[in-house]
Amino acid sequence: MKGKLIRFTPFGESHGKAVGVLVEGIPPGIRVELDELIGELKRRKGIPRFSTKRKEEDTPEILSGVFKGFTTGTPVAVVVWNRDVDSSYYEEIKNTPRPGHADFPARIKYFGYNDYRGGGHFSGRLTVAVVIAGYFAKKLLEREGVIVRAYLKRIGSVECPPFDPEELLKSPNQYCPNEDAFSKMIEEMESARKSGDSVGGIVETIVFNVPPGLGGPWGEDIEADIASALFRIPAVKGVEFGLGFSFSRMRGSEANDPFSIRGGRVVTETNNHGGVLGGITTGMPLVVRTAFKPTPSIYLPQRTVDLSRMEGVEMRLRGRFDSCIVPKALPVVEGMVAFVLADHLLRRKAWEGVVR
Ligand SMILES: Cc1cc2nc3c(=O)[nH]c(=O)nc-3n(C[C@H](O)[C@H](O)[C@H](O)COP(=O)(O)O)c2cc1C
Repeated sequence: MKGKLIRFTPFGESHGKAVGVLVEGIPPGIRVELDELIGELKRRKGIPRFSTKRKEEDTPEILSGVFKGFTTGTPVAVVVWNRDVDSSYYEEIKNTPRPGHADFPARIKYFGYNDYRGGGHFSGRLTVAVVIAGYFAKKLLEREGVIVRAYLKRIGSVECPPFDPEELLKSPNQYCPNEDAFSKMIEEMESARKSGDSVGGIVETIVFNVPPGLGGPWGEDIEADIASALFRIPAVKGVEFGLGFSFSRMRGSEANDPFSIRGGRVVTETNNHGGVLGGITTGMPLVVRTAFKPTPSIYLPQRTVDLSRMEGVEMRLRGRFDSCIVPKALPVVEGMVAFVLADHLLRRKAWEGVVR
């Protein structure tokens, strides 16, 4: 993931020794609290009932770039060791690519040299790297009062009804601010789990206190940068800002957000555009939705092919999979959005330092 001033490189495989990340460009002097980072990684484990039975401590080991509790400005390397690995089953299915997973194209791309155990480098486990990189970005944004919060907008057919965005900051429920919708989402995930199937959903992210002026046209467009980052998360199939696709059904008179002055600041009375105009933040909350497909690994029988015999077969998976990955994707989405915003914020700060 390459911003202009900060970048990160995830490494590792699901069933290899470790997963981790190299984060470059983070300025010195950012306070790092190991407990907070562990807390973020814990959020990535999701709701136990619908998550893999694989038990990983996910204790991060910071190898470089942090000294006496602060970033040093040099590359930050963080590793999370894999402990609970069971690869026996993947030898059995190495020639039968899972439908919906990356097994088949990965085999082609890497000429068969890829580590296929548990999805290898394509596993959702690699999102540990995004959460860690996102933690450093969030700490940077926190200094400017910028808060990035994601919640479950939809699971399957259950949607969280609209609410005042401020409620998200106060909600005791870390998954969804509407308790009624959340219990229906749990039922939806439970019904998928019980039938050996999986279910997808939508994560909505709201960023509060976004400074106006981040981004730009064409190569600097903040919507393009956030969308491009979000599409790098495995299982993401759609991204929309503000009213997104619904704009296509509207008239300009309904779609435009009227400007007004509140407390001496320019605001818009509605926020249909999700806080971005011309690829540049307006200062209104940034609102972006990310659609996740259902977990591809399911327990129901599926048609695939045996690549060693080049013939069709039926497969029944036996591994350890999540029936719904969407709850555990919340800190991953937040991390990606935070990383892009942090990069743009640093760029803005550079201009602020010289433009009079
Ligand atoms: C947090 C997270 C966890 C995931 N866990 C699983 C899993 O347990 N089983 C699975 O089949 N896919 C899982 N995935 C999705 C696959 O990694 C992904 O669908 C696959 O790599 C193919 O990529 P694509 O869906 O982007 O095309 C997970 C994704 C995320 C974001």
